[in-house]
Amino acid sequence: MPNPSIFAIALIFLLLILIITMLKTGVPCAIYIPTPMKVVRRMLKLASLKPGEILYDLGCGDGRILVTAAKEYGARAVGIEVNPLLIWLAKRRMRRSGLEGKIEVLRGNLFDVDLSRADVVTIYLSQYANNRLKHKLARELKDGARVVSYIFPIEGWRPYFKDEDYEIYVYKAPFS
Ligand SMILES: C[S@@+](CC[C@H](N)C(=O)[O-])C[C@H]1O[C@@H](n2cnc3c(N)ncnc32)[C@H](O)[C@@H]1O
Repeated sequence: MPNPSIFAIALIFLLLILIITMLKTGVPCAIYIPTPMKVVRRMLKLASLKPGEILYDLGCGDGRILVTAAKEYGARAVGIEVNPLLIWLAKRRMRRSGLEGKIEVLRGNLFDVDLSRADVVTIYLSQYANNRLKHKLARELKDGARVVSYIFPIEGWRPYFKDEDYEIYVYKAPFS
């Protein structure tokens, strides 16, 4: 039977890594809840994602949206994530998919990433995060780019499409 104090030390060590990473990259603005796969597929369909387009998933969690976009749509996908454990899971999922050339997983704060190359941005964050993100999206996204948000709308913008059953909001730049 392993000594319980080993577990306590390991836990403290992991927590320290998490705190140090977050001090360096920023505080999470949403907790981790993975998007169900059937919602992921619906989000990508509503985004009208095309082969060769670039998708950004802001707060990419375990990378499920990135891998699905690359595998099922032939898109290039970039994920930004603050939590080191989730970055590890996303990279592992990416390697297992054999699509490393099409997917990039970046460690960092989603508010610091340049979105000017994005054709599609997916978000499943919080109302607070969407309110903060709104101005950045309007400033950086090119005309024709789509923002697909799960659960939380972008307050003040008229959705280009709204799926009430799945709680998905789609917006198209220029936003109004
Ligand atoms: C609700 S989960 C969604 C995960 C994934 N996009 C999905 O749909 O399955 C939100 C994610 O955003 C990440 N996150 C929260 N704040 C962040 C920040 N400031 N920068 C980068 N990632 C962040 C969390 O760690 C979490 O993985």
